[in-house]
Amino acid sequence: ANNRTLTMIKPDAIEQGNTGAIIQKITNSGFKIIALKLTKLTTEQAAEFYGIHKGKKFYDELIDFMISGPIIAAILEKKNAVDDFRALIGATVDPAEGTIRNLFASSVTQNAVHGSDSDENANIECAFHFNENEIIDY
Ligand code: CMP
Repeated sequence: ANNRTLTMIKPDAIEQGNTGAIIQKITNSGFKIIALKLTKLTTEQAAEFYGIHKGKKFYDELIDFMISGPIIAAILEKKNAVDDFRALIGATVDPAEGTIRNLFASSVTQNAVHGSDSDENANIECAFHFNENEIIDY
């Protein structure tokens, strides 16, 4: 399995001052941050990133939300990173007790964090946000 996954701390979490608490939970759970940036997605970038959801009923709300403020993108390294990070953040709907979304999500859409859903998408999403020279091996 992949040892890298892509996360975004979403605009709601940054607005509510939860960035530090979320990063602390991520690093305390054994993930190593190997790339990190604060950025603000354009409409075009959000549409490209979430292209697989185009046409779904939550799509317009999702794009509007994701461009409403800055996001923090990061590549996280850990054995079995994709599945372990999905467990740490919890499900999109009804995240389990103690997960990052359970603690910090405001709604199904404004759900504090993104995590790649497969190894294939992790590779695509890491490359979407970062060049190779922005990824630090340490
Ligand atoms: P994310 O993991 O970033 O991937 C797709 C996003 O769409 C999801 O988090 C939510 O922010 C948003 N979303 C809103 N409603 C739904 C839904 N019913 N199912 C899945 N994703 C949803």
